[in-house]
Amino acid sequence: MAWLLEKVADTFAGGDVPGDRLLDVGTRPAIHNLISPARCFRSITCAEFCQANRVEVEKWVRDDGDAFDWDPIIKYVCKLEGTGNWKERKEALRNAIEAVVFCDVREKNPLGALTSDPYDVVSSVFTLCGVAKDRPDFSAVVSNVASLVKPGGTMVLVCDFGVTYYTDGTSTYPHCVLDAPYVKQVVEENGFGDVKDDVFLYTTPCPHSDAKGLVYVTARKLEE
Ligand SMILES: C[S@@+](CC[C@H](N)C(=O)[O-])C[C@H]1O[C@@H](n2cnc3c(N)ncnc32)[C@H](O)[C@@H]1O
Repeated sequence: MAWLLEKVADTFAGGDVPGDRLLDVGTRPAIHNLISPARCFRSITCAEFCQANRVEVEKWVRDDGDAFDWDPIIKYVCKLEGTGNWKERKEALRNAIEAVVFCDVREKNPLGALTSDPYDVVSSVFTLCGVAKDRPDFSAVVSNVASLVKPGGTMVLVCDFGVTYYTDGTSTYPHCVLDAPYVKQVVEENGFGDVKDDVFLYTTPCPHSDAKGLVYVTARKLEE
């Protein structure tokens, strides 16, 4: 999704998001949203519920022969950033991914037994909107994930909105219906300021849901 990769590149290009340690919540087996952050974050942790997804990320980090080939996406991101050698960037991302860990955003401490200082940045793309059953539940999972951001740190939250159902092609499931102002409001209610949002409206129907668009939110956690 070109628009999203551009937003991520913009967020991490200007030095406006300080810090060393970034946690990505709900990475899936995908690392595309981490290519730009790895320009400036030396330590990235991928947190994911599903073991098969964690295994895929670990395969890519180890450069296993059967790992997914992210090279075309890394080249694409380097091109849109206007930055140099994509092979160096690939290595930089591999080196930056220090850990791939279990997480369950439904828990008050999503990282469970893993003890860690709060992170400079926590990103979560298309995960919290999919996990939440309804709006109060969305607020609760945002609160759980927000607890992982250090005071003064940054949250990057991306959600589909206007979704009433999604389908795996066989069955259809209900989906929490969100809109951009509500997502922004929930972030503010969870102790964040300087909340900025941007919206992308889908122009073609999504194959797996009736999503109307996506909202991209960045916010700074207020000091306690
Ligand atoms: C739609 S995918 C998001 C993928 C990725 N961030 C991206 O941008 O492509 C949602 C991810 O959340 C994970 N997930 C589902 N339930 C979860 C939970 N309770 N806690 C943490 N992650 C969960 C899924 O396994 C899946 O990888």
